[in-house]
Amino acid sequence: MTFSAAARRAPAAPGALPLLGHGPALLRRPLDFLRSLPATGPVVRIRLGALPAYVVNDPGLVRSVLVGEAGRFDQGLLIDKARPLLGSGVGTANGTEHRRLRRLMQPAFHKAQIARYAATMTAVAAERTAAWRPGLTLRVDEELTELALTTVARALFSSDLGGDAITEVQRSLPMILDEIPRRAVLPDTLLRLPTPANRRFEGAVRRLRSTTRHVVEAARADGSDRGDLLSVLLLTKDEVSGERLTDDQVHDQLVNMLVAGTETTGATLAWIFHELTLNPAVEHRLHQETDQVLAGRLAVFEDIARLPYTLRVVQEALRRYAPWIILRLSPRESVLGEVSIPAGATVLFSPYVLHHQPRLYPDPFAFDPDRWLPERAANLPRGASIPFGAGSRQCPGNVFALTQMVIQVATIAARWRLRPAEGPRVRELARGAVVHPTAMPMRFLPRERLHAQERGASTA
Ligand code: HEM
Repeated sequence: MTFSAAARRAPAAPGALPLLGHGPALLRRPLDFLRSLPATGPVVRIRLGALPAYVVNDPGLVRSVLVGEAGRFDQGLLIDKARPLLGSGVGTANGTEHRRLRRLMQPAFHKAQIARYAATMTAVAAERTAAWRPGLTLRVDEELTELALTTVARALFSSDLGGDAITEVQRSLPMILDEIPRRAVLPDTLLRLPTPANRRFEGAVRRLRSTTRHVVEAARADGSDRGDLLSVLLLTKDEVSGERLTDDQVHDQLVNMLVAGTETTGATLAWIFHELTLNPAVEHRLHQETDQVLAGRLAVFEDIARLPYTLRVVQEALRRYAPWIILRLSPRESVLGEVSIPAGATVLFSPYVLHHQPRLYPDPFAFDPDRWLPERAANLPRGASIPFGAGSRQCPGNVFALTQMVIQVATIAARWRLRPAEGPRVRELARGAVVHPTAMPMRFLPRERLHAQERGASTA
């Protein structure tokens, strides 16, 4: 954060409507709208109804918001509206309480723990893919989001304890996540009315929270260390205060992780298989690597170091389809670059838009995993790659997510080739904070059989 006496007002984005400001543009075509803003300046003023908001477009300034003077910016509007679901977990807390919750969550993501969750990641991929049949057509976007949900849920509560909770999460969570953006733009008075949509939302939140609460109570009563994330949360003591989390706090942390770790990973996995259909050369190199390293078997934790191309494919998907919005609140008046930000203003930025700036990533819509070769990635300025955010709120699940995606992409690609089935063109859809694909029906072709067919066709 740079302070300057000569700070000026940020330039306003064009196209504000009377009363509504830029709200309709942000809701109706968010990616186009946000992509248009860097042309106006590194920090641009927009209006969401009566609410002023500042959009940050420069990687260095985004880094200042995330990392500079940690704790200066608080969580923003979208997260506030998700509070009935997230409770007082790490995602909603600010300041000292946020730091305490992060400290208590940290041991759950140590390397030794990740290696234990990796066995779950492999097992879930094996079970899911065992149900696929040659020629089967499925909505891959839905299939891989369920795969992601089952993976994170089983890593969280590994034992039988979690069976009901996993079913309930599968039932309720997608509906809840769909509803949150609508709630972010509607006034609270409307959200309290007993409309069918409000009742459905409240019912789903109640059911989901009550099932996960039972899981926590049962695990506390049981008392043993089952090696899952829930055990870590129940058993870890705060090194500063010596306190443990209460059942309510453990519960809220669990829900935060389920929410944060499902649609993000699910959508990224789906985009990867979509890009493979569009980029045969990338698919070919991925198959070469998985064939060589795995020879058709399942990928496990120890394989990760031997799958560098698979990792680059995952990294490129995280660039190309990064979260499209992160919001913060500026509690005090501050200066960002050369412009002043008033106290109470909403500050927002888009990792997705940053990852598509041509000066940072030439030909930004091309899917090119080799951008992540160490010698090329070294040229990127700090703050240019932020799929997991940065600073005190950086995603604590980043290594978990990378491990999971490398293991599951390699396991699937070693055995299956996914091909688009009939249907409308796949488009990008900003929902929650994630860029989702629209319906992505695909046909599953076993690799060996396809190779045999290709050989047959070439000799015919
Ligand atoms: C492709 C996968 C993922 C992506 C792209 C992603 C991205 C992000 C981003 C950008 C943030 C920071 C938001 C902010 O600054 O306000 C975040 C926070 C968070 N993520 Fe992830 N995430 C992923 C997977 C996961 C997984 C698998 C877990 C847990 C198992 C997880 C747990 C969390 C939690 C608890 C937070 C809140 C942290 C805080 O506020 O201090 N995420 N994630």
